[in-house]
Amino acid sequence: MIVAEAVASRRSIRTFLDRPVPFKTIERVLDQARMAPSGCNFQPWEALVLTGEPLAALQEKLLASEPDSPMDYDFSAPGQVDKYQARLRAVGQAMYGAMTIERDQADRRADFARSNLLSFGAPVLLLCHFPKFMKEAQWSDVGMWLQTIMLLLRGEGLDSCPQEYMGMFGRTIKAHLGLSDDTLLFCGLGIGWRDPAAPVNNFERERVPLGEQVRFLGFGT
Ligand SMILES: Cc1cc2nc3c(=O)[nH]c(=O)nc-3n(C[C@H](O)[C@H](O)[C@H](O)COP(=O)(O)O)c2cc1C
Repeated sequence: MIVAEAVASRRSIRTFLDRPVPFKTIERVLDQARMAPSGCNFQPWEALVLTGEPLAALQEKLLASEPDSPMDYDFSAPGQVDKYQARLRAVGQAMYGAMTIERDQADRRADFARSNLLSFGAPVLLLCHFPKFMKEAQWSDVGMWLQTIMLLLRGEGLDSCPQEYMGMFGRTIKAHLGLSDDTLLFCGLGIGWRDPAAPVNNFERERVPLGEQVRFLGFGT
């Protein structure tokens, strides 16, 4: 698969098939992703990768737990600003619309959001973490590593869903898996095979036109 195909075919998958992922494939992808760039070559990313019984035990724990209060970090802050609130609303409408969940069906929406705790049925969960002393630059490095993984997964015919929702349960996850409290649990990455028939895997995601995001200077016409 060429890179452009991997980029174009990647999407956040929220219904996975009940089909295991070979360990060798996951290991190969993570081995290749070590070549992701990072400022000063710090390579700040770390992860735990779970499947089978350890994953089931974590999920059982999560389902019986409440989100952290306060949370280690606030991923929702830009939503206070109209422009970003509109983008969030649009993706929410498209996603819940695909599942025919109406705006006023708060219980169904909450149930779906909570299915993040089961990573939407993904057979593998990568939990991405790093030391709390890492700063903005290193958070960005971690994002590059995660995107590298997501694209390599496409090359293997696999799919994923990044999950900052897991960050809301950071303390529970760290305690359950023996991670130090000096660690920041950034996000999960559910990994598996997409269900191509699921409406939630097929809705249109809007993107901002290039001209609104990027200015080109000095290229002529
Ligand atoms: C760091 C990060 C965290 C995310 N966390 C969640 C999450 O917790 N739950 C979820 O359903 N989607 C999550 N997403 C997926 C985004 O909603 C998704 O990337 C966005 O709507 C664009 O859709 P696409 O990934 O299908 O292109 C996350 C994405 C990123 C990059």
